[in-house]
Amino acid sequence: MLPGRGDFAFGRPFVEAVAQAFELPYVLSNVECAAPLPWPTTRTVEVGGAHVVVYGIAHPDLTLPGCTVKDPAEVLASAPTDDTVVLVLSDLDRGRDLDLVKKAKGIDILVRGDSIEPLGSPFALANGGLVLSSGSRGKQLGVLQVELSAGATSWRDDGAVEARASELDDAVAKLGELATRKAREDDPKKLERLTLQEQFWTKKKEAAEAAVKAATEHIGPGNVARNELRGLGPEVGEHAATKARVDAVKATLTGSSSPAGAPAPSDASKTGFGPFVGTGACTGCHPAETKQWAQTSHSRAWPALVADQRQYDRDCYTCHVTGAFDALGPKDPRALGGLENVGCEACHGAGREHARDPKVAHLVPAPPVSQCVLCHDSRQDGGRFDPATYLPKVKHGASAGAATPAGAKPR
Ligand code: HEC
Ligand code: HEC
Ligand code: HEC
Ligand code: HEC
Repeated sequence: MLPGRGDFAFGRPFVEAVAQAFELPYVLSNVECAAPLPWPTTRTVEVGGAHVVVYGIAHPDLTLPGCTVKDPAEVLASAPTDDTVVLVLSDLDRGRDLDLVKKAKGIDILVRGDSIEPLGSPFALANGGLVLSSGSRGKQLGVLQVELSAGATSWRDDGAVEARASELDDAVAKLGELATRKAREDDPKKLERLTLQEQFWTKKKEAAEAAVKAATEHIGPGNVARNELRGLGPEVGEHAATKARVDAVKATLTGSSSPAGAPAPSDASKTGFGPFVGTGACTGCHPAETKQWAQTSHSRAWPALVADQRQYDRDCYTCHVTGAFDALGPKDPRALGGLENVGCEACHGAGREHARDPKVAHLVPAPPVSQCVLCHDSRQDGGRFDPATYLPKVKHGASAGAATPAGAKPR
């Protein structure tokens, strides 16, 4: 295990105490301190007859009093180049990782601690090495199975043939569909457009065919790696002592246990934020749409976070409020001014001007799917989003009539 910047944010004594209490097998290779850290710079393990040496690489931004962070490429220059498997745990960012594998050719496996890019399947590096990502924040457990073949100098990408073949299938299906549409089309303008699309997909098909061929040929003697990410969700259960600590911290943050640490409450008199005015300003003129919206879980997205005591978590609030993706939208979950929940403006755009003068300032009449996937991004939502079933649920339906300007009689 590699202690990262996030761990050291709690201070060196804390990291050392936790490591000792839970006997964490920490390794840190490129940090030198006047008062030495209590962990080795490499660890070696024997697994299934293979000799594995593990390095832990800290980010240059790690600031520990009395310590310096050394260039990882220099440290790894002395890594063994024989049959030993060199496994590197890294807290670097993507650019630095790719730079490192270019310089330190001896790396066999690089494990990145990156939450943005949890690579379900490892991919091969130009130097014959392998890179995969563990994800961060303890949300997943990665299980890597490695089969080493005698004499092999590179990794075999078992998933590649399958992936390229499915791209080929897609292109073939698309071309079939376009041919059918062309056969039915009379309009020369539309025919021209379909022909352009056909050319595009023909190129894609040719590229996929070449890729399948290349991937198939690559299957020779090679080491094989399979990586499985196991979610650490509620099904795993809680470690009671850790849960108690987390709950105590959450209670402090949300103010339910410590009034002194409580964040400033939202100012109820302030409506909205910048160009976002808040759902409350739309309801009077659009009662039918409002009625339908109130039945969707978008209208209850904020209480769902509050119930979890996660409303002030910067990892969470952006998708459970309105306008946080907009540069002019709210930036602080403690000062939302009525933009809690996924309100009208989350889909239709900021509406302060429109609410003031609806005949002059217009909003997006039918929000596209590209707006939904800002939040339904297949990461936080468990990949459940499917436009065909999700879109009908948010459409306001036949019951939603024309807008009734405030004070005017409905037609
Ligand atoms: C990238 C946007 C995004 C972020 C960030 C986000 N959520 Fe959500 N959340 C969603 C979406 C979209 C759904 C609805 C998923 C569905 O039902 O298809 C959802 C649903 C939920 C639900 C309803 C129950 C469920 O699981 O379906 C809860 C509770 C929840 N999120 C809590 C959280 C917490 C806690 C965090 C922070 C760790 C968080 N969310 C961060 C987008 C997000
Ligand atoms: C999750 C996204 C979403 C949210 C939130 C949402 N809408 Fe919509 N809205 C749509 C979509 C999609 C359409 C187009 C399909 C339809 O007409 O129902 C639409 C259509 C409309 C229209 C008709 C536009 C036209 O063609 O004249 C109005 C008015 C409207 N919405 C108002 C509202 C109001 C008011 C709210 C908040 C109470 C709201 N919407 C919340 C997605 C959304
Ligand atoms: C004072 C009444 C009034 C208020 C407040 C109001 N609307 Fe409207 N809205 C209208 C009228 C009237 C139209 C039709 C405009 C037209 O056809 O020129 C309209 C049209 C729309 C449309 C269709 C696209 C367009 O702009 O023509 C959407 C979407 C919409 N409103 C959403 C909202 C949202 C979201 C809010 C709150 C931020 C809101 N409205 C507040 C009266 C209002
Ligand atoms: C600002 C973020 C955001 C946007 C934009 C957004 N959603 Fe959502 N959506 C959520 C969250 C968060 C939830 C879960 C709310 C909860 O359960 O607490 C959700 C829930 C849903 C659900 C209910 C899922 C279920 O079965 O419980 C549907 C359907 C849905 N969204 C469709 C859409 C569609 C379609 C669009 C685009 C037109 C859209 N959403 C745009 C954040 C968003």
